[in-house]
Amino acid sequence: MERLLIQGGVPLRGEVQVSGSKNATLPLMAASLLAARECILRGAPQLRDVATMGRLLQHMGVRLESGPRGLRLDASALQRAEAPYELVKTMRASVLVLGPLLGRWGRARVSLPGGCAIGARPINLHLMGLEKMGASIRLEAGYVVARARRLRGARVCFDLPTVTGTENIMMAAALAKGTTVIENAAREPEVVDLARALRAMGARLRGEGSSVLEIQGVEELQGFDHEVIPDRIEAATFMVAAGITAGRVLIRGARAEHLDAVLQKLQEAGLRIAPGPEGLLVEGPGRPRAVDAATAPYPGFPTDVQAQLMALMCIARGSSVIAETVFENRFMHVPELQRMGADISVRGGVATVRGVKTLKAAQVMATDLRASASLVLAALAARGSSVLHRVYHLDRGYERMEEKLRALGAAIQRLT
Ligand code: UD1
Repeated sequence: MERLLIQGGVPLRGEVQVSGSKNATLPLMAASLLAARECILRGAPQLRDVATMGRLLQHMGVRLESGPRGLRLDASALQRAEAPYELVKTMRASVLVLGPLLGRWGRARVSLPGGCAIGARPINLHLMGLEKMGASIRLEAGYVVARARRLRGARVCFDLPTVTGTENIMMAAALAKGTTVIENAAREPEVVDLARALRAMGARLRGEGSSVLEIQGVEELQGFDHEVIPDRIEAATFMVAAGITAGRVLIRGARAEHLDAVLQKLQEAGLRIAPGPEGLLVEGPGRPRAVDAATAPYPGFPTDVQAQLMALMCIARGSSVIAETVFENRFMHVPELQRMGADISVRGGVATVRGVKTLKAAQVMATDLRASASLVLAALAARGSSVLHRVYHLDRGYERMEEKLRALGAAIQRLT
């Protein structure tokens, strides 16, 4: 299994380009199922989750090519409306094919994702929404089997603003008969990006970016030619990398308007951040200040940056309290950070981090995608050489992470 060897203590300097957003790319790829025409997706990152979604779509009969203009997806000759367990178990976001399949083909057989490292993560809200729209849903041997002659517009009110749930219902509603209103919809920039692409396909929707979305179904949709937004979580990760190494990095393509809560928190911690036309210039202080944070749905502080912020707080002056409110079990990085000398205690969904002057290198193990990012960050700041095991978690969501860090001066290499 591949590992990363990281020699800490080098302040990062230079420029890094943010890749296209993973969490925007996955629903956009699934949206290609809604059209009988070719869809072109520009700027999709090359990473494991995107490859998994590609394999899933190909399994269904979608033609997929990667060319100079981007990913070309053509679902005109779909063969099976099915997402098999083997693929869904490696990536929960596979469930994003459920809405479009039902919307256009009236049937879908999609494996239940099951548990994952960061919590139970059910899909009950996705199913509730589709049932409200007239789908009949049964569970059969671990699969969701859904049918509907044609979905009907409905009022769907989510208990929680689920991101992929909102995206699934948006896609299903685009081809439903009548108007769907999603209340307590997710407001994430990735949801807004999907709305833009759906509109380019001829969908009639409004309200994206707010908590009420209205979608008026149409008879058919065209293809799209769409450039995916930059990855705000990757951008935030590089911001912390600059901060934790007391470096100075221009993060090209990072959009301040998508990173409000992160910017505020990192500035409070003492990072100097200057937004400009090309991106964000981030400069780390000698030692960050402790800040408190609680994760929340957008526009709150993203749960996907909680682990990275915690790595930064490990070396802060003072104590910081970090509350995780979105997922119930998202502190898997804590014992690994402790192996590096971090002083952290956890009670329920709240971690108290008492900053130490320096972290010490150690062998650590990645347990999920963002946890692995936090361990890379901690290793960049630690004294000595760390080894990160189970790098495949990192590869799911970061494009050429170690290459980008190396270009900024980090001493990092992959051991195979
Ligand atoms: C998406 C992101 C993920 C991010 C998360 C929260 C993608 C591909 N993934 O995941 O990176 O961490 O948003 O910002 O975009 N819930 C239910 N029932 C449901 C659906 C969700 O109870 O049917 C709960 C979840 O367990 C969780 C909360 O709602 O506690 C939010 O989850 P959700 O927004 O659905 O996360 P994902 O869309 O899976």
